[in-house]
Amino acid sequence: MHTPKEYIAVFDSGVGGISVLKELIKLMPKERYLYFGDSANAPYGSRSTQQVQDLTMAAADMLLKRGVKALVVACNTATAAAITLLRQTYPDTIIIGIEPALKLAADRFPSGHIGVMATEVTLREEKFHQQVERFPGIRLSTISVPDLVGLVENGHWGDAPAQALLEPALAPYRGKLDAVVLGCTHYPFAAGIIRKLLGEGTAVLDGGEGTARETQRRLAEQNLLYDGPGELQLENSASDSRILQLCMTLLEAKL
Ligand code: DGL
Repeated sequence: MHTPKEYIAVFDSGVGGISVLKELIKLMPKERYLYFGDSANAPYGSRSTQQVQDLTMAAADMLLKRGVKALVVACNTATAAAITLLRQTYPDTIIIGIEPALKLAADRFPSGHIGVMATEVTLREEKFHQQVERFPGIRLSTISVPDLVGLVENGHWGDAPAQALLEPALAPYRGKLDAVVLGCTHYPFAAGIIRKLLGEGTAVLDGGEGTARETQRRLAEQNLLYDGPGELQLENSASDSRILQLCMTLLEAKL
């Protein structure tokens, strides 16, 4: 039996899920949040499916022992590889995942040219292929920038190293996309540079806000919304104490 006062746990392979946490706090400031980033094992995006499942299950197991009414998997990669397994293992807990915001893009540009930036795991998993089939009208280009997660983990997202990494990957798409979907929760922090490189005519979309709204809807459905006082606990598997400072900086960053 869950109580409103229990935590909303938010999990990511590292600091990227802070982009989703921001949306959750904006929508539900009175909730108690427990954010766990697994930066010691990031990036997940180039690992085997089995490894991503094992790491995600270990994190969920640790979090769900601590009075958690909902688990938000704020990681497209972990969602793609492990959400089914998580829901089978913890059928009594609200478990919300995040997936590339293709629906948002297809609703706005039903026959548009849409770019999707996501990790290798997200793009290769069956879940993504099934999602793509639901929007037959769009023309899809997948864009891979494998090192962007590592850069954000090291505190670079709006600066010269991020620009140098993104420029060659995005140059072929400049002025050509109706929208780009940021299908990795680390990427919204680089949205400013992505917007600049793709040109003002490209809408930059991500699933953070939709995930927050879905979390609110699921909690309301079970009368589990909490009325404060709001609280945030940040935890990370990396031993470097600077990582928690980075989480705070990202939490306050304007996107
Ligand atoms: N932030 C994660 C996502 O949304 C992935 C980052 C990683 O590769 O670890 O996909």
